[in-house]
Amino acid sequence: MTTTLLTGIGELVTNDPERAEEGGLLGLVRDAAVVLDGDRVAWVGRAADAPAADLAHDCGGRAVVPGFVDSHSHLVFAGDRSEEFAARMTGQPYAAGGIRTTVAATRAATDEQLAANLARLVGEMRRQGTTTVEVKSGYGLTVADEARSLAIAQQVTSETTFLGAHVVPAAPDGSPGDAGRYVDMVTGPMLAACAPYARWIDVFCESGAFDDDQARTILAAGAAVGLRGRLHANQLGPGPGVRLACELGLAAVDHCTYLDDADVDALAASGTVATLLPGVEFSTRQPWPDARRLLDAGVRVALASDCNPGSSYTSSVPFCLAMAVRDMGMSPAEALHAATRRGAEALRRDDVGALVPGMRADLVLLDAPSYLHLAYRPGVPLVAATWLGGRPLT
Ligand code: NIG
Ligand code: FE
Repeated sequence: MTTTLLTGIGELVTNDPERAEEGGLLGLVRDAAVVLDGDRVAWVGRAADAPAADLAHDCGGRAVVPGFVDSHSHLVFAGDRSEEFAARMTGQPYAAGGIRTTVAATRAATDEQLAANLARLVGEMRRQGTTTVEVKSGYGLTVADEARSLAIAQQVTSETTFLGAHVVPAAPDGSPGDAGRYVDMVTGPMLAACAPYARWIDVFCESGAFDDDQARTILAAGAAVGLRGRLHANQLGPGPGVRLACELGLAAVDHCTYLDDADVDALAASGTVATLLPGVEFSTRQPWPDARRLLDAGVRVALASDCNPGSSYTSSVPFCLAMAVRDMGMSPAEALHAATRRGAEALRRDDVGALVPGMRADLVLLDAPSYLHLAYRPGVPLVAATWLGGRPLT
């Protein structure tokens, strides 16, 4: 295996807890070097102590951070909802029902069109430093359309999530669908068709989508065929979803915009990661989730893009970091940690989200002397290069 020495790293974010004493939450090392061996990190430390390697790459004094782990996205869809966005910006409220607009466009698209749109969005993400991305189904809502959504998603990521329980689709004649019958389909033939392509199962547990009993039923059916659970919850108002996620020991519960004290206590006492999605609040004009309250209570907080054509059509984790720092009470270090190490935890991955020997060599070179610039310079393309599995992407 060829080894590569990355030199000239002005500031390195390792996220290594063993470096916390000197390097704080992010395990910072200044004037650092990293040795990559194939697709893995082999050595991390001060440049002065670096071992020899087959190849060398000078980072020119740049900051280097772990690749972003975007643990929540909906990238298999067709069409866009820019007019819905424009209407919201002039006062219309966001409603979960908009999902059905994208469902109609997605069903009408060919596999090739869906795959091309997915590839375009993953390309945007890579250029902005994302190296691991979770992708959900949820805009098909028939057995065939959910299964093909996941088969297409699986071509770009192993982190695929079956979200047949996104909303109850309308009946063929356009009348409201029957929720009970739809849950039976999700837990029956749809799950059977989708499980081979999915690692996770998710439910939108919210008034207007699925209630906690339905979520429990759907997650249990998924668990019975080996799918791990995660939830969308407490996005549009208070509800039982966050506490259900904690009770069931799910890996993550996402949105967490409307929380009461019992929700925060349940999160703090559980191993469930609270994933905040500020692109949604930006794009829907909902109140920002209170990251500070969660962090102060000891909750593990992740940040993700929730890239989707309705509530958050951004593929940019740096943009999400900037919002979290500016408006959600996170320090720049907490925000970066949330989009890397905590994102990995939200996906129960121990091979990504940090630059520690043995982990995947997924990293980002910033056109900046410090990671602080990610939030300090919002909207600026600071990603000089994204390295995936030990190689720079061209
Ligand atoms: O994560 N909350 C549910 N699903 C998406 C929104 C999807 C849409 O509006 O199309 C979300 O915000
Ligand atoms: Fe979502």
